[in-house]
Amino acid sequence: MIKSQKNSDKENQYHEVISQLKALIDNSLDSYTNISLILSHLKYHFNIFWIGIYWVKGDHLFLGPFQGMPACTRISNGRGVCGTAATTRQIQIVPDVTKFEGYIACHTETKSEIVLPAVKERKCLFVLDIDSIKPAFFDKTDAKYLSIISDEIIRLL
Ligand code: SME
Repeated sequence: MIKSQKNSDKENQYHEVISQLKALIDNSLDSYTNISLILSHLKYHFNIFWIGIYWVKGDHLFLGPFQGMPACTRISNGRGVCGTAATTRQIQIVPDVTKFEGYIACHTETKSEIVLPAVKERKCLFVLDIDSIKPAFFDKTDAKYLSIISDEIIRLL
């Protein structure tokens, strides 16, 4: 398969970011500190509008570490892009948030979004939610590498 130049650039950027993240993580630190470092690095490297974690606890998702503007703190499980990712345990790539039924607009600036469920032993522990002010910002390349990063976050817990 021939990859587009754009996607191969993105792959290279993720390789670089993942090796930088390995250097940033310090296992002697609190997991919240390490997770915040990861989210901050991703936000500033990819010029992301908002990035954060929602912990899945029973019927709700609760805001955890994040980088960006204040956001919704509690989401009903099964609702919005985050709740859909948590209940289906499927990555949600939303190129146009206005087309996603039940979308929860924490920020009017967001145009596209990706949400990855972090699953361990068939249980969704949290979702990793990333928002962009650009439409169709996320694709399968992001899903592939962000899954690797999300697995690293699971290991930190
Ligand atoms: N848009 C999300 C809500 C979380 S904010 O984007 C930070 C959703 O529909 O679940």
